[in-house]
Amino acid sequence: MTTTPTVHRTTTVAARATELSKVYGEGETQVVALDRVTVDFPQGEFTAIMGPSGSGKSTLMHCVAGLDSFSSGSVRIGETELSTLKDKQLTQLRRDKIGFIFQAFNLLPTLTALENITLPMDIAGRKPDAAWLQKVIDMVGLSERLKHRPTELSGGQQQRVAVARALASQPEIIFGDEPTGNLDSRSGAEVLGFLRNSVRELGQTVVMVTHDPVAASYADRVIFLADGAVVDQMIQPTADRVLDRMKAFDAKGRTS
Ligand SMILES: Nc1ncnc2c1ncn2[C@@H]1O[C@H](COP(=O)(O)OP(=O)(O)OP(=O)(O)O)[C@@H](O)[C@H]1O
Ligand SMILES: [Mg+2]
Repeated sequence: MTTTPTVHRTTTVAARATELSKVYGEGETQVVALDRVTVDFPQGEFTAIMGPSGSGKSTLMHCVAGLDSFSSGSVRIGETELSTLKDKQLTQLRRDKIGFIFQAFNLLPTLTALENITLPMDIAGRKPDAAWLQKVIDMVGLSERLKHRPTELSGGQQQRVAVARALASQPEIIFGDEPTGNLDSRSGAEVLGFLRNSVRELGQTVVMVTHDPVAASYADRVIFLADGAVVDQMIQPTADRVLDRMKAFDAKGRTS
């Protein structure tokens, strides 16, 4: 299959959170992890989510990706409102439309690297596009490791399997929670470059949580969270500008 470059349609929203709130616990121990967050993730765009530890980045990603329930507000993936879906439909939507790269790689220990990469498609009964699969595997540098099981791979290699797994089925939207957190800077740059190319050349939509200003600079836009709310955004970020913005957070954290 040849892939035709997709024209950017920035007006189409791949995912949207509206007035999204997530509260953990009750009473004294209550934590407001998300406080009425409204944010769009336009189709064909690479968005980074940044913010201090505990600011709600993972919670936002998990709620928008249909992995976690929310307390109020709404989440849409494409035209589908998540709260209208039954469990089975939600599972199906996640399987068919969403790719994940988790902070902990979530690989199955009994499967080889290749089996882990194609697992979501195997479950869905879909055949991977062979040329695309090969491209993904080459790009993340795993061709020599396909028969290894996760315990026989380094942390960085496991992370690359997780990245390849998310990309392999060409989902409508890919969510990554610090997808390059365990990679050395060269492998990290390769993975980020590949994510960015999949956005530029294939119209893929990517949403990535990161603490790393360099990683964030691969994105088209950075959303900054603090205390469960969106406090800023930056279009066409550079590592230096992101770093400056993060320093402002740190300064605020020390004085409060
Ligand atoms: N299961 C849970 N029960 C109670 N509180 C939780 C739970 N999960 C997260 N929280 C709280 O919600 C807030 C947001 O957590 P979240 O994991 O989204 O932060 P984060 O921005 O991803 O942080 P990090 O950068 O450390 O990964 C934190 O205060 C956290 O302690
Ligand atoms: Mg997190």
